[in-house]
Amino acid sequence: MKKRLFLSTVVTAVTLASAGVSFAQDNTFKVGLILPMTGPFASTGKQIDAAVKLYLAQNGDTAGGKKIQVILKDDASTPDTTKRLAQELIVNDKVNVLAGFGLTPLAFATAPLATQSKTPMVVMAAATSSITQASPYVVRTSFALPQAAVAIADWAPKNGIKKVVTLVSDFGPGIDAEKFFKDRFTFNGGVVLDTLRVPVRNPDFAPFLQKVRDLKPDAVYVFVPSGAGAAVVKQYVERGMDKAGIKLIGTGDVTDDDILVGMGDSTLGMVTSHHYSAAHKSAVNQKFVAAFEKANGGLRPNFMAVGGYDGMRVIVEALKATKGKGTGDDLLAAMKGQIFESPRGPMFIDAQTRDVVHNIYIRKVEKQNGQLYNVEFDTIKDVKDPGKAK
Ligand code: PHB
Repeated sequence: MKKRLFLSTVVTAVTLASAGVSFAQDNTFKVGLILPMTGPFASTGKQIDAAVKLYLAQNGDTAGGKKIQVILKDDASTPDTTKRLAQELIVNDKVNVLAGFGLTPLAFATAPLATQSKTPMVVMAAATSSITQASPYVVRTSFALPQAAVAIADWAPKNGIKKVVTLVSDFGPGIDAEKFFKDRFTFNGGVVLDTLRVPVRNPDFAPFLQKVRDLKPDAVYVFVPSGAGAAVVKQYVERGMDKAGIKLIGTGDVTDDDILVGMGDSTLGMVTSHHYSAAHKSAVNQKFVAAFEKANGGLRPNFMAVGGYDGMRVIVEALKATKGKGTGDDLLAAMKGQIFESPRGPMFIDAQTRDVVHNIYIRKVEKQNGQLYNVEFDTIKDVKDPGKAK
């Protein structure tokens, strides 16, 4: 039994290794897009899928003499499924690039396969700092949590917030959000009264928020993954914490554009830090938001959509640069160092770290044209992931 298992592992490794060089001989360039299209994180999949489609609709689906084919797979945010789908896409479909990855554990489950098969893996959503170190084939177009966490930890103490309780989802990005906020906030003279971690699946925020209330901080600092913010804010308001003078701050994931519209006026004035807001004032963004809403029945794009849109751009430009003849290594090289204007603002892919470098904005929830938006009022330029300096 053991021997058999070992043998099948060897066979898989060999198959994966050869898959990387035996690209589809036809004129198709294949992108294996793995996303959570069902389950609790389906909003991430929906946003990214829509953004990838929009990018190709706007820019054409041929480049470098090849027709671009996106093969979409639903992993329902289960790491074993992501891994199995990635393997099938590499071995059977012979995809040129893997993309998507809605959550950190899904990216980590796939990274070794990218390495073995020398397939570039474009991470469009997951945001734990260390993902880019999991494989030299990872290129990230989403963000890294420490970028946002440090920015709000600098803003808060200058704005009357001296005592904070942190409340994060208990997995990679939450741990990063907690650590980088705490270290910087403490360095700035603030005090973290407690660090609370909530389960990722089926979280019940009530007991944690009660704990926050009892500790009476100036603010609760929150990280929850995209889509989960509405539940936190609802319970925060229901417990009267806003009225009790406890502010809610966080990384922009909590007031995500996708759900902000429905979160209600109690979010007015909430300050968060992030790399993207649908209200970002630039011609590129206004065009992006209008086209996205038009193509998706009025759905507002969030930061996940932008990670997908920019990720597709990075892939298509690499295909162009390699004239449709590139191996995985050639494509990877052509992705490194790309610099362009995204709907989020200026960004580039750091050639050394393969991670995104972009502005982080401090934003406040305000009404514009009768709708709630994260309105940017301060900019920290060209932020590299502070997590890489370790
Ligand atoms: C992650 O799993 O890395 C992740 C998911 C959702 C977010 C941020 C990070 O909003």
